[in-house]
Amino acid sequence: MSRKKIYNPLSKEGVDDRSIISGNPTGLVELTKVKYQWAINIWDLMLANTWFPKEVDMTTDARDYKSLSVDEKRMYDLVLSQLIFMDSIQTNQLQDNINPFITAPEINVLVARQSFEEALHSSSYAVMVESISQNTEEIYDMWRKDPILYRKNSYIASVYDELVSNPTDEMKVLAMYAVQILEGIYFYSGFTAMYTLARAGKMLGSAQMIRFIQRDEISHLLMFQNMLNSLRKERPELFTKAVEDRAYQMFEDATKMEIEWGQHISNNKILGFTDQIIDQYIKYLCDNRLKAVQLKPLYNVQHPIKWVDKFSQFNEQKSNFFESTVSNYSKGSLSFDDF
Ligand SMILES: [Fe+2]
Ligand SMILES: [Fe+2]
Repeated sequence: MSRKKIYNPLSKEGVDDRSIISGNPTGLVELTKVKYQWAINIWDLMLANTWFPKEVDMTTDARDYKSLSVDEKRMYDLVLSQLIFMDSIQTNQLQDNINPFITAPEINVLVARQSFEEALHSSSYAVMVESISQNTEEIYDMWRKDPILYRKNSYIASVYDELVSNPTDEMKVLAMYAVQILEGIYFYSGFTAMYTLARAGKMLGSAQMIRFIQRDEISHLLMFQNMLNSLRKERPELFTKAVEDRAYQMFEDATKMEIEWGQHISNNKILGFTDQIIDQYIKYLCDNRLKAVQLKPLYNVQHPIKWVDKFSQFNEQKSNFFESTVSNYSKGSLSFDDF
């Protein structure tokens, strides 16, 4: 199945005929009438959530970083390095491999905005790296030296590569699951490690940056969950047993990989971020993501660290922690039940 045409004047496709993949759009981005109202709701949310990395105050982090323990420093650096990879791959993947196959204009604009946000996240990591290190390449190059990091990055990229190399409609569905997994599982050991440091009063600017990033990633997660759920309604024949079996396998592999990563960065001893907690938390997240796209949970475990959910919200910090200019950007929190 080839990429959609950029301009397709012979198309007579009406709004009600739009489809998420394999449609026949004219190429005009007509948003006055839309088929997928959820896409406009998420678009409005993304615009309302606009923020700028340079407005997060990192001055205390530069000082805090020097007094982190060796293990804490190692964890912080590895987390940054891995997050940098994921936003890098997303920035390009969405534009190069996902959007060309999406045929509903109201979803094309969402994916374009998502790609911009992933690029913004890359720029936020640049601010973070520059504020803590004189030798910025040390962090950018960690994947060359750390075998577990290299393996995680390579695995994520290999799944994407395989799915986009043969873009049948079934493969496009699987690519959507892969994006959902990246947005909803692969970030979370890293995010939680940052919140663990901040909960102990360390690297508060970094945690604030991560809150902004996570808020964006949640809207990306909602996008792909909605895409999968809408697609299941309009093209139920694509959700075959073979496709769902592969999806379950991808979720299971990702869960194992993310648990291994979390345990690798924390060394089972950083501020209560233990191997057991990481194992249970990632399994809990996996179940949540599965249920959101009408698949069955695999692990049936409870959330082991509920403080993380509150800690990641903007309205839960002590008021004088951060610059007021940053707080002004927090235009409300986001729940998974909003759409
Ligand atoms: Fe991102
Ligand atoms: Fe994202």
